[in-house]
Amino acid sequence: MNIPRPVLALFPLCAFALLLAATRAEGAAPDGAPGEVPANLPVRLATLEWPPYVGSGLPDQGYAAVVVRAVFEEQGLPVQIDFYPWTRGLYLVASGEVDGLMPAYLQPSRFDRFQFSDPFPGGPLVMYKRRGDDLAFAADPGVDPEAALRGLSGKRVGVVRGYLNTPELDAADYLDREEVNDDAAVLRELVDGQVDLAVIDLRVAEYLIRNHYPDYAELIEPMFPVLRDFPLHVAFSRKSRRTEAIVTAFNRGLEAMRADGRLEALHQHYIVHPGAVDQQSEHVRAEAAATEFATRLRQTLMSAMKSGGPLAAVDVCHQDAPRIAAEVGSAHDVALGRVGVRLRNPANAGPAWAADALRDFQRRVADGEPAGDMRYAALAPDGSSYRTALGLQTEGPCLICHGPSVSAELTERIRSRYPDDEATGFAAGSLRGLLWVEAPVKTPGSSGESAKH
Ligand code: HEC
Repeated sequence: MNIPRPVLALFPLCAFALLLAATRAEGAAPDGAPGEVPANLPVRLATLEWPPYVGSGLPDQGYAAVVVRAVFEEQGLPVQIDFYPWTRGLYLVASGEVDGLMPAYLQPSRFDRFQFSDPFPGGPLVMYKRRGDDLAFAADPGVDPEAALRGLSGKRVGVVRGYLNTPELDAADYLDREEVNDDAAVLRELVDGQVDLAVIDLRVAEYLIRNHYPDYAELIEPMFPVLRDFPLHVAFSRKSRRTEAIVTAFNRGLEAMRADGRLEALHQHYIVHPGAVDQQSEHVRAEAAATEFATRLRQTLMSAMKSGGPLAAVDVCHQDAPRIAAEVGSAHDVALGRVGVRLRNPANAGPAWAADALRDFQRRVADGEPAGDMRYAALAPDGSSYRTALGLQTEGPCLICHGPSVSAELTERIRSRYPDDEATGFAAGSLRGLLWVEAPVKTPGSSGESAKH
């Protein structure tokens, strides 16, 4: 495939990122409280509506709330999280009525006022464009933001008013920047043609499209590579005397959760694969089907290779791959299959969305991400099914039948079964294809949860 790459680079930082907290209660550390933080007073944090990261109507109030609660719980500290409009939250922090604000982007310009916690996983900031528009990055904005931005000279770029941008973007007077009120508006302007590009957090955009603007999925798409990946922080006030102790405890709890994998698991569950949250039953069916399909295929292939060698395994694969797909599909009430970057069996073409997902995987792998890490999960634009796909990496044993030098004997056998075979020449580590699952949504109308509005 070829990967277009024009240029641009903008780095808004979100607006939330402040905080100060002054708090009474310094000093009086009672008995065995962890750290030096008084355990009898909850740590008070202000937050805002920013789905899917945090939101009063989200399951468990969203990822950031879950992380922060778990971290403080790990340290034995009670925490109270309250939702405020952005400006009100700022005021409360400034006036010392709360200890901190989250989630926040790290802002060196605010180091004098805020003490930022260590980071926890956040999301990538991206530019969206209209599907079909011939726009791409000329430089990787993560590597050379200036060159990337300059390549977009003259383009109209939608940004959210009040969100903080990077120095590169702020200095980019050659861009025609259009400020709008919120994340939804920036996507709408793009769809309506008011702007050529929209700067937005990828997960926020995905959330909005999934839950509020399913039609947009067909109209706009994110551009890769991402502009920048933004980890999240809690911003604590430097005014409070207990802040030092709170931050120390928070960072210690965070490190423990990072070390044992809990932090990454929460990020995956709530942010990267939110289907588990939004679409519990479909998600579970899809995952179960994918695992069973992959496992049975592998076992069948392995035992055929062992008992009859690769020639026999081709025959077994020919017979059994489609049969196993059909069996697993009906057992879990899903449709599923495998598609390839190049196909051996033309009947494996799969649905159009899987081909789109595969192209996206190819782009990301070309940008250096490991093929085996590729994941896709989304509701169908009409809400009728939950779609998921995982990348299939070419491993050592796959080379026997898909590699650059398949034996003459084997080639002949493959050709006899698959006269149009194109699925050779794959290098180890490369993206071979993907495994896709489509799980019908069973309760109509239950597609989006209620988050806010
Ligand atoms: C013994 C030879 C053999 C080996 C080893 C093998 N494959 Fe295949 N592969 C096949 C055959 C035959 C098909 C066509 C099956 C069908 O008709 O659906 C196929 C099909 C596929 C497809 C479906 C898309 C297409 O091109 O039709 C994918 C994806 C795939 N293989 C991935 C892999 C991966 C990944 C590995 C290693 C883990 C692997 N294969 C190892 C023979 C093999």
